[in-house]
Amino acid sequence: MQLATSIPAMQRLAKKWRRAGVRIALVPTMGFLHAGHLSLVQAARKRVGAAGQVVLSIYVNPTQFGPHEDFSRYPRDLQRDLQLCRVAGVDLVFAPGDAEMYPGKSAGDYSTFVIEENISQGMEGAARPTHFRGVTTVVAKLFNLVRPDVAVFGQKDFQQAAVLQRMTRDLNFPVQFVIAPTLREADGLAMSSRNKYLNPEQRAQAVILYHALQAVRAAVKKPVVAARLKADLKQFFTAAPLARLDYVEFFDPATLAPVKQVRRGTHMALAVFFGNTRLIDNVRL
Ligand code: PAJ
Repeated sequence: MQLATSIPAMQRLAKKWRRAGVRIALVPTMGFLHAGHLSLVQAARKRVGAAGQVVLSIYVNPTQFGPHEDFSRYPRDLQRDLQLCRVAGVDLVFAPGDAEMYPGKSAGDYSTFVIEENISQGMEGAARPTHFRGVTTVVAKLFNLVRPDVAVFGQKDFQQAAVLQRMTRDLNFPVQFVIAPTLREADGLAMSSRNKYLNPEQRAQAVILYHALQAVRAAVKKPVVAARLKADLKQFFTAAPLARLDYVEFFDPATLAPVKQVRRGTHMALAVFFGNTRLIDNVRL
C-alpha cells in the first residue's frame, strides 16, 4: 500500500494510472476509520477489480465544520487508519494537509467554492448552514486531484450522497457514483466516527435513533400523515432522557422535498443530540 501526503505526489500517480488505462476508485473519508468506511472499500474494489486502484482519502475538511462544531477535537489516528487500510486492501491512502488543500486560507485568499443550491437547503443544510458548501468543495477538489472513474459514498449520510451525486451530474464529472448501504453495530446504531464521543449512558440510549426508524417503518404499512408521525416521535424520544431530537423529516428520496403523507418508499431522516454529540441516521421506509 502506498501513502501520498502531497498533492503533486497524488497527481503524478493519478496521471500515471490514467495513461496506463488503470481504473481508479475513490473513497473519500475524514479518517478514524470503522467497518462502515471499510465496507465502502469493498464496494470500490468490486467496481474496479483486482487490476484497478482503490484510493482512500483521509482529510478532516475544515470548511465543512461550523465555527462552534467539533473540527479541532474530531478524532484523528493516521497510523491506526493506515493499518486498517492495509488489511482492507486499499492501494493508496491520500492524506493531504490543510496548507495544501486550502492554500492561503488563513490569509483569506482561498476564495473558490462549489455550492449546490437546491437539495442542500433542508435538514443537515438548515441545521449546519455552511456544511454542504464545504463538502461539495472538498469532494470536487478530490475528484480533480484523483480523477477517479468510480467514487463510493455511504447511505448513512443520505443527503450528503444526494448533494454530491447532483454536483457530479451538474458539473459533468466523469465519475460513476456509488451509494453503499449503512453498516450498523450489533444493536442497530449506525457506525460513525462520532460514536466515540458518547459516554456509556449516552451510548446505551443512542440506539433510539434506530428504534425510531424501525417503529416508523412498522407504522407505514399504510399511509400516515407526516405531522402525526413527528408528534408521535417527540413522545417516543421521552424514553431516552439523554437524547434531544434535533429534527426528523419525511421526504421524497429523489427530490428531498418534504412530504405530507408518509408511505412506503418515503425516506425518513433524523438528527439527535446526546450532549454536544450530534448523530444522524436515515432509512427508506
Ligand atoms: P466520513 O464521515 O469520514 O464518512 C466517509 C464516508 O463513509 C461517507 O461516504 C459516509 O457516508 C460513509 N459512512 C460513514 N458511516 C458509515 C456507515 N456506518 N456505513 C456505511 N458508510 C458509512 O462523510 C464524510 O466523511 C465527509 O463529509 C467527506 C465526504 C469525506 C467530505 O469531507
